[in-house]
Amino acid sequence: MTLGQLKTFLAVVRQGSIRGASAELSVTEPSVSVGVKALEHEVGVPLTERRGRGIWITPAGREFATYASMILEIYETAARRVRETGARAPLLTLSAVITAAEYLLAPILRLFKDLCPQVELRMEVGNMASVIEDLISHRMQLGIGGRPPEHSSGIVGEPFLANHLIVVAAPEHRLACEPELDPIRLADETWLVRESGSGTRSNTQELFSKAGFNDPATMTLGSNGAVKQAAAAGLGVTLISAHAVAGELAAGALVQLGVKGTPVVRAWHVLYSAGEKPTEAANTFIKLLRSSAARREIDAWYGESVAFLPTVAQGRPVPTGVERRSTAG
Ligand code: PGA
Repeated sequence: MTLGQLKTFLAVVRQGSIRGASAELSVTEPSVSVGVKALEHEVGVPLTERRGRGIWITPAGREFATYASMILEIYETAARRVRETGARAPLLTLSAVITAAEYLLAPILRLFKDLCPQVELRMEVGNMASVIEDLISHRMQLGIGGRPPEHSSGIVGEPFLANHLIVVAAPEHRLACEPELDPIRLADETWLVRESGSGTRSNTQELFSKAGFNDPATMTLGSNGAVKQAAAAGLGVTLISAHAVAGELAAGALVQLGVKGTPVVRAWHVLYSAGEKPTEAANTFIKLLRSSAARREIDAWYGESVAFLPTVAQGRPVPTGVERRSTAG
């Protein structure tokens, strides 16, 4: 059986005659007949029957036509994929959470580009829920985000860097200068929170339940930028990754509140599907994230602005698998 015979048979089905199929395919009528006969011989049942001057497709022939279409479709998809793979540079596809994409990954991507200039990099940005979906559906090779949620079976998370979440507010906030704030004193604040599906939002909800807040007032804002602007405008307080507010803290647009139990220490993870063999580019990226070169690059990039991360400097525990890192650039 050849692809040509399948195409010929499908043309006969479409046209309802040998003559019609020969016109559609620009071949002779005998060659259409020979193709159909060969196919019938191979499958062992009549697919067509002569009826007067036309041709009739048997029930077996109709069923076979469905599978013939599927075979040709699969072949065409395979041929297209193989052509794409052969034609293009190696590809690394990353699905990153908003916070990491906006505030963390640039120095790492630069390092990766220096190391593998031939690899084409494609990064998509969403919240934690969409990153997990991208990995489960195998749409993207790697994810970058917080700890993978427990329900995301088959997704492996490898921590590579501490992520410190701090509470920030406008500099004129009434509690701005108070050290050792009991979280309960923030129970009546409006909390600026990210959209549902966001890892930052889940961390905030954990903070609420640890602090014993009973349904605090919240304002949901769908991006870190909107949350930071709202906090700077005095609309409320927020728990946010220190990486995301380094610039605002350095510029004095926001201040860190000295809330007991913060920074909340989490870890940035590289995420991948356990069942998928990583591509060479993905493997190189994972190794890079584990390396001290990546850490040095981040420290150099953030420079003085990460000096406010006291937890690591003071030697308090960081999550398993996260190496300690110096605080200054
Ligand atoms: P987010 O993710 O940007 O979706 O809030 C941050 C995180 O997972 O810690």
